[in-house]
Amino acid sequence: MIGGRLLITGAGGQLGHALAEEFAAEQAVALTRADWDVSLPAPAGLDPDLVLHAAAWTDVDGAEDDPQGAAAVNVGGTANVAALGAPLVAYSSDYVFDGRKREPYVESDGPHPASAYGRTKLHGEAAAGDQAWIVRSSWLFGPTGHNFVRTMLRLGAERDEVAVVDDQRGSPTFVGHLAAATREVLELPYGIWHVAADGDCTWAGFAEAIFADAGLRCRVRRISTAELGRPAPRPAYSVLRSEKGAPRLPHWREGLGECLARLA
Ligand SMILES: NC(=O)c1ccc[n+]([C@@H]2O[C@H](COP(=O)([O-])OP(=O)(O)OC[C@H]3O[C@@H](n4cnc5c(N)ncnc54)[C@H](OP(=O)(O)O)[C@@H]3O)[C@@H](O)[C@H]2O)c1
Repeated sequence: MIGGRLLITGAGGQLGHALAEEFAAEQAVALTRADWDVSLPAPAGLDPDLVLHAAAWTDVDGAEDDPQGAAAVNVGGTANVAALGAPLVAYSSDYVFDGRKREPYVESDGPHPASAYGRTKLHGEAAAGDQAWIVRSSWLFGPTGHNFVRTMLRLGAERDEVAVVDDQRGSPTFVGHLAAATREVLELPYGIWHVAADGDCTWAGFAEAIFADAGLRCRVRRISTAELGRPAPRPAYSVLRSEKGAPRLPHWREGLGECLARLA
């Protein structure tokens, strides 16, 4: 599949970074926001044969305050990428589901986002067009950028105890594993694919694993989503699995080990 010019958007983000590493041998053109603000039409002369579209508005709470700003990036930006005319991988999110299910969400489950961010991601899926692999993943973390692992490592080194939500369950996915699986997705037909780490946990369980594996003596106080009081609603349950043979990723705990090794 990969033979021509490969373009990566959002290369300054955690997934974009992992994709640029994974596809370095293909001499991918990796564009940050400074190179192309995707809410604007593409700069002239890009002419890719394939796009891995990882640029997105990912500030979930900020999207509640500025849904139009989030849509300009997640919907308008994806439409601008699709307008390049090349097949694309559009990364989407578990937040397209409301989280009321209590068993894994599969590709044929009807989406029903509860947040403004989730709505923009769902409309972004539609904006990707017909020549697109929609890769939904969840709870991304990696050695760069803003993510839960890096936040917990910082807090765990500063404090004796952190309060972490224990009533949201998902599958924390290492961006290196998602980037590698993207190669396999390119061999599949266009359409929606659920690609998230094996296993699941709550944020509190994830924090305990981070502290244990990093050797930090910080306690986790388990709190509810309501106690944390964030503006945007989050799905209480958003484990993603594939019913159609998407690539299977390693367990989240393995991803955590790889991430911590990279950070060490
Ligand atoms: N993070 C998660 O837990 C998660 C879960 C499921 C799915 N996803 C999806 O996975 C993809 C990658 O997420 P991520 O975790 O790598 O996010 P990220 O680390 O926040 O990276 C997103 C990148 O997009 C850039 N960006 C924002 N607005 C842009 C614009 N108008 N034009 C060009 N670039 C822009 C950001 O730049 P600035 O930093 O300068 O804003 C950032 O470098 C996204 O589609 C996201 O929705 C993420």
